Amino acid sequence: MSNLPVPRPFLKWAGGKTQLADALLVRMPLVFNVYHEPFVGSGALFFRLYREQRIRHAVLSDLNAELIDTYLAIRDRVTEVIKLLSEFPHDREFYYAVREKDPWQLSLPERAARMIYLNKTGYNGLYRVNRQGKFNVPFGRYKSPKYLDQENLLAVSQALQDVDILCTPFETVLERVVPGDWVYFDPPYVPLSQTANFTSYHANGFGLSDQERLRDVCIELSKKKVYIMLSNSDTETIRSLYSLSYFTIDEVLANRAINCDGTKRGKITELVITNYPVERAVQLRLLEQRAPFLC
Ligand SMILES: C[S@@+](CC[C@H](N)C(=O)[O-])C[C@H]1O[C@@H](n2cnc3c(N)ncnc32)[C@H](O)[C@@H]1O
Repeated sequence: MSNLPVPRPFLKWAGGKTQLADALLVRMPLVFNVYHEPFVGSGALFFRLYREQRIRHAVLSDLNAELIDTYLAIRDRVTEVIKLLSEFPHDREFYYAVREKDPWQLSLPERAARMIYLNKTGYNGLYRVNRQGKFNVPFGRYKSPKYLDQENLLAVSQALQDVDILCTPFETVLERVVPGDWVYFDPPYVPLSQTANFTSYHANGFGLSDQERLRDVCIELSKKKVYIMLSNSDTETIRSLYSLSYFTIDEVLANRAINCDGTKRGKITELVITNYPVERAVQLRLLEQRAPFLC
């Protein structure tokens, strides 16, 4: 038996799903084969499912190549990543020197260590790139940020051992699924207002035509008898895109930044969309939590 702790997300990521994980978990399909997460980000739901031992096999993917390389380095070369991070000082000058480095001139473990270090010591733990795709977050105001969490990195590495990790656009999931698989989509959200900035995950952004393509992928997956679950903002755009007989739209409460500079937080509703009836899955899960011997 391993003494490692339960693995947790190793990066802070805009739109991270840690606080929605309970609401998502009760809405998962009762039975499924392979788990696919095509907008993995920090992988909050994946780590939660792993912890609950709900996954037999998983395929995690994202379009952000540095992010995916960080997953690969942790899966395959975690000791090197840990060694590098243990040699990094927490220091403004060092931060800017690391930020200046071209990640594509570094080795895989160096690229991953740079990503983790910048994410944990940069301002607000943001991942933000400019139009040229260059990471441009300033040095953060943390006293002693924990950029080397050795135990968690080892636990994450173990959790990723049998996982397929791919850098690929979301629609390629259509090529990998078989009936009975489950796909969870957590795309960049449609903004609640015109001023809310929602496209800064990746230099290319994610506009209305991407949301429409994603809806079409969900229809194709439904025809292939694949379970889908998708989260997005509670907006007219999303409600109307998914107002088709394939889908069930469910509201959940989330604690989110409610103004555009992120300083004011409050409860707002978000949408969880599935192509299977959630009520029954939720009822059975609640029953399972209260009286596991009944299931
Ligand atoms: C809302 S975040 C996912 C957050 C994640 N669920 C978590 O818990 O951290 C959206 C992710 O979609 C990725 N992304 C943006 N456009 C994409 C595309 N066309 N195909 C695949 N991934 C994309 C971004 O790199 C980002 O990591």
